[in-house]
Amino acid sequence: MKISNDTVETVKNGTDIIDLVSSYIKLEKRGRNYVGLCPFHDEKTPSFTVSADKQICHCFGCKKGGNVFQFYMEMENKTFTESVRDLGKPLGMEIAREESNMDDTHMQMIRLHEYLTDLFHHILMHTNEGQEALDYLTERGFSADILRKEKIGLAPDMRDFTKNAVLDKGYSMELAYQAGLVSRNEDHFSYYDRFNGRIMIPIQNHQGYTVGYTARSLDGQEPKYLNTPETPIFQKRQLLYNLSDARKDIRKNDEVILMEGHLDIVKVKMTDISNIIGLMGTALSDENVSTLNRLASNITLMFDGDEAGQSAQMNLGGQLLASGLNVYVITVPKGMDPDEYIEKNGKEAFETLVKNEKKHFIHFKADFLLEESLNNDMAFTSNMNTLAEHLRYVNDAMIKEKLIQHISSRYKVDKRSLEDKVPVSNHQQAPLSTQSTVRQLPLRPRKERYFLCALMKDKDLFKVFQHNINEEVLTTPEYYVIFKGLCTYFDNYTDFDISSFSQYIDGELFSVALEMDSILVNEDITKEEINDYLEDLSGIRYNEKEKQSLYIQLQEAENNNDIELQARLVQQLNELNSEYKR
Ligand code: CTP
Ligand code: MN
Repeated sequence: MKISNDTVETVKNGTDIIDLVSSYIKLEKRGRNYVGLCPFHDEKTPSFTVSADKQICHCFGCKKGGNVFQFYMEMENKTFTESVRDLGKPLGMEIAREESNMDDTHMQMIRLHEYLTDLFHHILMHTNEGQEALDYLTERGFSADILRKEKIGLAPDMRDFTKNAVLDKGYSMELAYQAGLVSRNEDHFSYYDRFNGRIMIPIQNHQGYTVGYTARSLDGQEPKYLNTPETPIFQKRQLLYNLSDARKDIRKNDEVILMEGHLDIVKVKMTDISNIIGLMGTALSDENVSTLNRLASNITLMFDGDEAGQSAQMNLGGQLLASGLNVYVITVPKGMDPDEYIEKNGKEAFETLVKNEKKHFIHFKADFLLEESLNNDMAFTSNMNTLAEHLRYVNDAMIKEKLIQHISSRYKVDKRSLEDKVPVSNHQQAPLSTQSTVRQLPLRPRKERYFLCALMKDKDLFKVFQHNINEEVLTTPEYYVIFKGLCTYFDNYTDFDISSFSQYIDGELFSVALEMDSILVNEDITKEEINDYLEDLSGIRYNEKEKQSLYIQLQEAENNNDIELQARLVQQLNELNSEYKR
């Protein structure tokens, strides 16, 4: 059951954004707005702005923001439903737990995981069956506190422990099978436990719900780690281990530390370092990369000090760098992983290592490849190309300079020839605009933006044109997505209100919507004007194609020295351009 729109509105209207935000950060009045240090990223000058009039907040630095719900969701790392429920409480509203907007089967699978997790944990901590495993974990330095906090457990070495627990609790075997908790013998159509004789490490999704396990064998049984298979609630490409716990600290530090092993992370959670997450396997999906990009601008890799770890690090580092992140590496001494490092050298030594030993990924890679490059000219050439290719993604001029300096001195090459090798970056990050919210855009996106602004201010107009708008009209993806959000929004609301609308789009688009909200559109814009715009926008694609073909012909005419043809083509281009600018 979904929380009703009325409930959402009542909670929203009853919660003042200034009160809510100032319970987390210090706000100062500045003109009509309030400003403070952004709680979502690290900054020294306040760029987090809260508007009482509009009941929204927005950071000009990291672009995060929204209404009371989005703020609360980010701060408390809660789902939308939970946020409505929590914020409703002080208003005396009891919103039933069942009023959740999650698919029923998914929620049941999650409840089943939560029940089993408690059960496995109980077995580990308080039963004879659990003693050997508990001794093993204690021996490895895991405290009772951390085992409790992470709800680590033991699946006893039986064929039907999980199976009976599922049945006792009234869940169907089919559900447990779909959730990857039991296996099925297809010949006899019988079910048996998937996990037995294993230490159960629960895995949470990004909202903090337990959706699967990674299970370590105790007796050397292969595989060492058995994971939950792909299920409707456990999709590896969407998951990062420990993200729901680490999110706040990742934000605060604007840095995420990525590790390989789950038990490494559990161990590191006993130290002061908490902005850590783990890979699900050895690869990063596109979804993972974009999640990471939204969380922080810096990522530090801290993989195992073995061959596999180093080579995984080498590949992932390049992928992350190309996605726009600043990538660093902490080298764990040979043959060790973070867990073993902590056991051998203690927590403080580990904390020092993490604080002090961050090499830029390119620095790390250059050092790593040096030896083979000095003795092998073929390797030298290809490694140089790789390093130069990586360098294009370094946006900060100072560190780029430092890296070039380092490589040229280690590889004994001229600095300038290395610089020349670095491909020109085609997506330099735009400098952050500090105060003005409206970006200067090229003509086409500017027209699209203005067109959409006009429609969003007037539901009647929107309804008239809604069905004529497609991706050919709004070619800028972010505007098209906002348009789709508006379609649903106007099914529920009559007037545009940025605070309410923010619930209908993804967080990343909020600042774009906000920018549009602040663009003034001529109050009495008519249907005819909008129609004009629409025709203009639908036609330009065609114009662009024609223009391109003219340019190609012009190039040919130039090559052939055909002055007459050139003149004619230039005139045609001019006509097209003046039409375009109209
Ligand atoms: N892994 C896996 N399946 C395996 C082996 C490893 O999924 N059969 C993954 C696990 O996430 C594991 C990581 O690769 O944590 C690193 O493997 P390894 O170094 O062998 O394990 P450790 O994390 O060091 O585990 P432990 O300390 O318990 O030996
Ligand atoms: Mn280990």
